[in-house]
Amino acid sequence: CLVRHYKFNVVMRKVTRLCSSKPIVTINGKFPGPTIYAREDDTVLVKVVNHVPYNVSIHWHGIRQLRTGWADGPAYITQCPLQTGQSYVYNFTITGQRGTLWWHAHILWLRATLYGAVVILPKLGVPYPFPTPHKELVLILGEWWKSDVEAVVNEAAKSGLAPNVSDAHTINGHPGPVHGCLTRGFSMPVQPGKTYLLRIINAALNEDLFFKVAGHNLTVVEVDAAYTKPFITDTIVIAPGQTTNALLTADLKSGKYAISASPFMDTPIVAVDNVTATATLHYTGTISTTPTSFTGLPPQNATLIATKFTNSLRSLNSKQYPARVSLEVDHSLLFTVGLGVNRCKTCSSGNQLVADINNVTFVMPTISLLQAHYFNIDGVFTDDFPANPPIRYDYTGKQPSNMQTTKGTRLYRLAYNSTVQLVLQDTAMIAPENHPVHLHGFNFFVVGSGLGNFNHKKDPEKFNLVDPVERNTVGVPSGGWVAIRFRADNPGVWFMHCHLEVHTTWGLKMAFVVDNGRGPEESLLPPPSDLPKC
Ligand code: C2O
Repeated sequence: CLVRHYKFNVVMRKVTRLCSSKPIVTINGKFPGPTIYAREDDTVLVKVVNHVPYNVSIHWHGIRQLRTGWADGPAYITQCPLQTGQSYVYNFTITGQRGTLWWHAHILWLRATLYGAVVILPKLGVPYPFPTPHKELVLILGEWWKSDVEAVVNEAAKSGLAPNVSDAHTINGHPGPVHGCLTRGFSMPVQPGKTYLLRIINAALNEDLFFKVAGHNLTVVEVDAAYTKPFITDTIVIAPGQTTNALLTADLKSGKYAISASPFMDTPIVAVDNVTATATLHYTGTISTTPTSFTGLPPQNATLIATKFTNSLRSLNSKQYPARVSLEVDHSLLFTVGLGVNRCKTCSSGNQLVADINNVTFVMPTISLLQAHYFNIDGVFTDDFPANPPIRYDYTGKQPSNMQTTKGTRLYRLAYNSTVQLVLQDTAMIAPENHPVHLHGFNFFVVGSGLGNFNHKKDPEKFNLVDPVERNTVGVPSGGWVAIRFRADNPGVWFMHCHLEVHTTWGLKMAFVVDNGRGPEESLLPPPSDLPKC
């Protein structure tokens, strides 16, 4: 295995989209940012130098960070952010993972423009468990605001209401021709008869997306850097934070086909950006890059299509890549996820939209939780996060009259190597919604899901403990629940949050603290000497 060195200079750059320009935060002036390439077992060193007037931190979304929690990246969770002029080397080894992941800023809403792919190839000489593609291509889906994104968020904080939705979606940084602005989008050349591996990433801030290529089917082979049983689909559903690898065979002879993405949201309470992003798949020999063949994307509320897609996902579970689902459960947890309203004196509307897990709206600390844990600093967090909802009610039924939440920096403590079953239950407070929940530091198995309230007796009987899909971000269905299992084999402090940035901001987040075991194998290493200070 190799050591791969990258240098990330965080710099401002003026970029033009939708026929208007604004300065954005970038890595090395690139948007989307550079792709990190590595192989399984490689060590990656990324030196990040902050040259912008914002505090910055970078998260390597989906990288397990076994015993290297200091390199995980969420600001105030595992590190203090890099202030202007500071630098930090993220140093981690990619253990037992191969596939597509990604990196993004993990502070404020800077990930709107600060993101890129992480491509992990199998160990040298190890083939993919599917036919070797002719070429591979990263397709990152995102969102674009014409105005300054931090200003959008600050405005929302002042009013207590939802922030403005984006003006367009993007594919590899380009919306394609929308809003009467006819600039062309990203274009992908293909040769007839060849097969391509698409590495699709949803880096959008606030929207689940449908993804389609006109005239072509896709064979899903991996999600969140874990192989799946291959299945054929014409539509992919992908939540913010998730990645999907799919094979596309260029089985037509010629032409220009739209690659498109548009939002999926079944019960919108606020407006969504419903603008379709387009890129082009063009057969060699075609000259113009504007697509001529389009395909109808599902309507925004096509829940059946989305459910059919997620229900088709299964772990590959081969001899070489077994699904190691734990059959016992040490910690059985039920967390409600949803929205609420709290009174707010400083907000112009007098109230403030909030979000919570088990009625706790998470309050960000001012020094990092991992430092507080490692150095035993008192008063930063408590470890009394409720294992169950403090009040039982019909979670998906009629709204309770009291929609106030409590506030706190509360963590849940897991013994090293214990097994966890976590049921995430959506609530209808304010409105039911699909919440893509992301767990740092672990992959988990999605053993079950359903509509309505989770039933402790009946639902576990139907769990799939054989070949459930393995991932790091899972959609909690609107008005329903999802059950996941994982082993707490990674010491440290691990953030868990909704990957809809607006919900993270409102407090739909918490963290697990996994105790240091006794032996060095089970312990977190000491912090690197260049770890930024708060
Ligand atoms: Cu991709 Cu905590 O985030």
